[in-house]
Amino acid sequence: MKSCVLVSGGAGFIGSHVTVELIEAGYDVIVADNMSNCDSTCFEGVKKITGKDDIPFIKMDFRDPVATELLFATNKIDAVIHFAGFKAVGESVGEPLKYYKNNLDSFMNVIESARARGCGNILFSSSATVYGEPDKLPVTEETPRQPATSPYGNTKKMCEDILRDCVKAYPEIKGIALRYFNPIGAHPSALIGELPNGIPNNLVPFITQTAIGKRECLSVFGDDYPTPDGTCQRDFIDIVDLAKAHVFAVRRMLDGEMRKDYEVFNIGTGKPLSVMELIKGFEKANNLSLNYKIAPRRYGDITAIWADPTLANNELGWKAERKLEDTLASAWAWEKHLAGK
Ligand code: WQD
Repeated sequence: MKSCVLVSGGAGFIGSHVTVELIEAGYDVIVADNMSNCDSTCFEGVKKITGKDDIPFIKMDFRDPVATELLFATNKIDAVIHFAGFKAVGESVGEPLKYYKNNLDSFMNVIESARARGCGNILFSSSATVYGEPDKLPVTEETPRQPATSPYGNTKKMCEDILRDCVKAYPEIKGIALRYFNPIGAHPSALIGELPNGIPNNLVPFITQTAIGKRECLSVFGDDYPTPDGTCQRDFIDIVDLAKAHVFAVRRMLDGEMRKDYEVFNIGTGKPLSVMELIKGFEKANNLSLNYKIAPRRYGDITAIWADPTLANNELGWKAERKLEDTLASAWAWEKHLAGK
């Protein structure tokens, strides 16, 4: 009997890539999404990639405890991967209540209903943002979390604490938090990828939209940071590598291989890359020249962060494998697919 995984927020950028990998790894998947931050493009792409036209999709809002309870009451769900939540860092600063209510209520409803209906395996989509501006690099899972620099980042920390405390209180609940660094790229099929709403906040979609002509010019937010080339350094993790990490984590939970009832893993490459290095890498991978200029620093940006992924490598058996040039080529192929090219 196949195990069934609920992917909440599964129609989004990361959720859709995880759905593909779960199905290809032999899991049954239910996708539930309120479609507030995406359209059906990625879910349709998932069906094409997997060749499965019958993937259960439920349009619902996890802020609704009745709808959430009904979902677990009417489906045999063995594990949940929780993505459903708002994720625009900048927007969260101006709309803290919107973020706290949505991101926290949704997650608490999921845990409560999962527990009530006998699903004890909860995997939470966390973020390296919980580390703030780390004093020491690379960051391990033991690196102290810092006060969040945005309500969005704070909801990630708070959801980790909610999961940790529920695992402590309820013996039937197990939890894994995956702390993503900077997810980039798209599926090699170019049928799913990042679909930012409006002007992209994140670097790579802004790069691809500039390259395709949707944006005039990329602004590099600061070249006076204390880094080798003056631009910020990040751990850019390929979206398919990131998605595969979820399969390893779900398998660990379902196969009873967890060492502790609550576990945290950094999901990154372990290799720092600067903004300028990424721009040059994109130009080289796609044989094009990008229109960019140096602009003032962006408020809230940290100088550098990258992962020590040893724990995920050793314990999950997962490792980032995709070459940067392939990742950047996939991001460009996706942008061209969106433009109908
Ligand atoms: C990366 C670097 C920018 C855009 C955020 C969230 C994190 C996660 C990933 C959700 C920075 C520079 C960017 C641009 C630029 N999101 N940049 N010009 O801020 O590291 O992380 O997204 O989980 O939680 O905090 O990612 O892509 O916005 O920026 O120069 O037009 O690119 O200054 O140094 P960030 P990002």
